[in-house]
Amino acid sequence: MQTTVEEKETSMQTPAKTATRDIYLPSERKSVAGGGTPHVVAKDFSIFYGDFEAVKKVNADILSKYVTAIIGPSGCGKSTFLRAINRMNDLIPSCHTTGTLRFDGEDIYGKLTDEVLLRKKIGMVFQKPNPFPKSIFDNIAYGPRLHGMTDKKHLMEIVEKSLRKAALWDEVSDRLDKNALGLSGGQQQRLCVARTLAVEPEILLLDEPTSALDPKATAKIEDLIQELRGSYTIMIVTHNMQQASRVSDYTMFFYEGTLVEHATTPQLFTNPKDRMTEDYITGRFS
Ligand SMILES: Nc1ncnc2c1ncn2[C@@H]1O[C@H](COP(=O)(O)OP(=O)(O)O)[C@@H](O)[C@H]1O
Ligand SMILES: [Mg+2]
Repeated sequence: MQTTVEEKETSMQTPAKTATRDIYLPSERKSVAGGGTPHVVAKDFSIFYGDFEAVKKVNADILSKYVTAIIGPSGCGKSTFLRAINRMNDLIPSCHTTGTLRFDGEDIYGKLTDEVLLRKKIGMVFQKPNPFPKSIFDNIAYGPRLHGMTDKKHLMEIVEKSLRKAALWDEVSDRLDKNALGLSGGQQQRLCVARTLAVEPEILLLDEPTSALDPKATAKIEDLIQELRGSYTIMIVTHNMQQASRVSDYTMFFYEGTLVEHATTPQLFTNPKDRMTEDYITGRFS
């Protein structure tokens, strides 16, 4: 899905120095217990589609319980990098990786890594809301059931807890048996967040989660990200630089597969080290 023209224009025209309004240094925000330790660590990590190196020798520490935004022009490798973290790229036969990517010290691409368990711990929400054509209850209970839970009372507790965490409970508590496809787009996207939270992940990967939503629904998702910050490590790909500056503690800027700059969000948007970053955030190219 495309960002609206209006959104794109504003994000392109925003001069770097005005982007400070809504951003905070991690230390200025509510403290993050256990935050600051590397949760995902990339070392010379490359991702190929056949011979094409879509992500090039990335070295990065993604810190636990903070929000990290991934920005950069279309096709620069944002989604490819994000999907590598829970091995979603495995579904593409030509895709392979070199270097290492670790989660809590364990090699994500190691022979012993169990992908099902990995995806339980590292959940993902996509651009377009994709609820199952089932009831709201069954959508949320899906993951826990898959992992063996059958107790109805316990499932109900998980469904309520997950919907509350995703700020959707009040809107749907009286119609849990109704089809999830009857919800609005914004509600569907929060449902997808709730479905991910139901299996108690440690990391949430969000790939342009608001690009199909109107501004009001977008604001709700951004508020939700703030609510979840500190409890989960969150990585969000976004086209919208205002969004990155509003919601994230750290920002990674990719260009043609290369991680050009990775810094605290205020630093990257107000005092970028690299000329390319500066040109991108000031809208000299998009
Ligand atoms: N399944 C695929 N097969 C081959 N090339 C791909 C595939 N998916 C993405 N690419 C290529 O990899 C590069 C990065 O794509 P992507 O990660 O989707 O970028 P972004 O999310 O930043 O827009 C692009 O050049 C894209 O064309
Ligand atoms: Mg993408």
